[in-house]
Amino acid sequence: MDYSFQFDSLEGYKEAYKNSVENPEQFWSKVADTFAWHKKWDKTLEWDFKTPKIEWFKGGKLNITENCLDRHLAERGNQPALIWEPNNPTHQTRTYTYKELHREVCRFANVLKNNGVQKGDRICIYMGMVPELAISLLACARLGAIHSVIFGGFSANSILDRLEDAGASFIITCDGAFRGSKVIPLKEIIDDALQTFSSIQKVIVLKHTNSPVSMVENRDIWWGDEMKKLDEKGDHFQAEIMDAEDPLYILYTSGSTGKPKGVVHSVAGYMIFTTYTFVNVFQYKPGQVFFCTADIGWVTGHSYIVYGPLSAGAISLMFEGIPTWPDAGRFWDIVDKYRVNIFYTAPTAIRSLMGFGAKPLEGKDLSSLEVLGTVGEPINIEAWEWYNQFIGKNQCPIVDTWWQTETGGILISNFAGISPSRPCWATLPLPGVQPVLINDQGKEVTEKIDGLFKGNLCMKSPWPSILRTTYGDHERFRLTYFSTYPGLYFSGDGALKDEEGNFRIIGRVDDVLNVSGHRIGTAEVENAINMCEGVVESAVVAYPHDIKGHGIYAFVILNMEKPPGQIAEEKIRDMVAEQIGHFAKPDKIQIVKGLPKTRSGKIMRRILRKIAENEVENLGDTTSLLDPEIVAEIIREKL
Ligand code: WT7
Repeated sequence: MDYSFQFDSLEGYKEAYKNSVENPEQFWSKVADTFAWHKKWDKTLEWDFKTPKIEWFKGGKLNITENCLDRHLAERGNQPALIWEPNNPTHQTRTYTYKELHREVCRFANVLKNNGVQKGDRICIYMGMVPELAISLLACARLGAIHSVIFGGFSANSILDRLEDAGASFIITCDGAFRGSKVIPLKEIIDDALQTFSSIQKVIVLKHTNSPVSMVENRDIWWGDEMKKLDEKGDHFQAEIMDAEDPLYILYTSGSTGKPKGVVHSVAGYMIFTTYTFVNVFQYKPGQVFFCTADIGWVTGHSYIVYGPLSAGAISLMFEGIPTWPDAGRFWDIVDKYRVNIFYTAPTAIRSLMGFGAKPLEGKDLSSLEVLGTVGEPINIEAWEWYNQFIGKNQCPIVDTWWQTETGGILISNFAGISPSRPCWATLPLPGVQPVLINDQGKEVTEKIDGLFKGNLCMKSPWPSILRTTYGDHERFRLTYFSTYPGLYFSGDGALKDEEGNFRIIGRVDDVLNVSGHRIGTAEVENAINMCEGVVESAVVAYPHDIKGHGIYAFVILNMEKPPGQIAEEKIRDMVAEQIGHFAKPDKIQIVKGLPKTRSGKIMRRILRKIAENEVENLGDTTSLLDPEIVAEIIREKL
């Protein structure tokens, strides 16, 4: 494996950064040269953020799975590629070497092909964290089909929205998924979603939990039966030759308005940037065991369980279960059992484990750990210190990696052992990344407050794995990311910057919530609540939550004379679970008589946010409100 693009010192980083900004085309061509291509690209980069149009390595021909699998066979075919730890620690674990994973991916690609899947088809994947999930992604990519993974916590309604938007024609699912002590009936939920959606040709079902399922004739088929139909020839599958800019996958994510949008990533740029960032941020060395605790239902799992590590020829560990089952020592058992070297998780997981104290760590040998990482939300100092002391034993650098579904890979981070870990600071931009802080007037921030610049975090130029469009709606792509500050990509986050150019991420400045690492739009939750009988209107805001990061606070107006209290609350929570999923249920529901509105009828969320955050002394000017009295009443009845 050619890691010539791995820098190994701060000077090395600085030089790479300088080159990447002065001559991005030359810089990224050199990195791209280390990958396996059928034909090299004609033009390294073409872009404008106005149309917007972004094309990397145009004219290049390749298949990402030849980079994730085939190119490793000669040198490390018998090395583990994927290690799988099941939900139940007494069940059998599984390890796939690169050879074995290659074979399984080829076989399943043949199954897809035999069932009519073609290049460009959209395939929805709704599975638990089983190795076959990773195999499904790769099999789609080998054939050129576009996968769209839907997180196992989403409800039938959410699945239906995504199936429709993507125009999906195939589904891959499981009978059920294990999550701690629970079994989630995935196939049943898919059946629900399919009641009103008839464009699905085949549903491929993996038997995993042995939950009873109903199989629709001519539509539903078993993974195992289909694999058995293949002979040895099934072990091979000629990878489809893709254009660098062909889409690799769609992943739906929430924004501040309306329905989730399908973020589209394309083959080459995504592959190159996830590999580059994996190798540099974590300072990965061949043979190390890398454990990312994310779910493949979210982008972190796509980029840093599957594509980045496998393309780098790494050993990637995948865990089916949850951190607190059978007890709160589960992650540490896994680290001990597999001698994990690099551990990558979310602040919300750290905070929840912190609450159990040091007991779950007793007798666990964590001495294999060399590097720790966090992602998903700003990490608070208490969690950072606990992670550093109890897990890293003050010996492991902690990389705080800032990125988004839209960015495909890490954009701002420190580099393990190379640049300092600084609690709560993501610190430096990756090579090729040009962050800038913009004020509300759209100008670059030049004045410091208390020694720091503060503004809206934007990017001046494209990096290879920036999203290319939102599926089926390029105008929405333009409006969402490139219209707030023309000429710039706007992340939706606010940030601070020091004199040396280190960044500290503050969090979202738009109406997006970050609940236990799950991204949820306030508008989505409001839409769900408003579907309840008796609800007139609602407003949803975030408030700080000790474990989840954000808690969901819903202010709801009912049209009933007597507020029915608890019953209404339960109905509201059930409706949100039904429309979105259990993870989006409001933590607090306050039934109110009215909402603070401007004279033009706009809800003043700023005021509601302050109330939810308990900052009622500092509400700002409320005289312009339609009915200022309502604010006092909401505060009086606050939960
Ligand atoms: C939002 C993106 C990127 C994979 C997981 C989440 C927040 C992410 C950090 C960090 C502070 C962070 C931002 C961002 N975020 N990483 N290290 N420090 N905030 O992906 O669901 O697309 O959410 O997560 O607010 O915009 P996502």
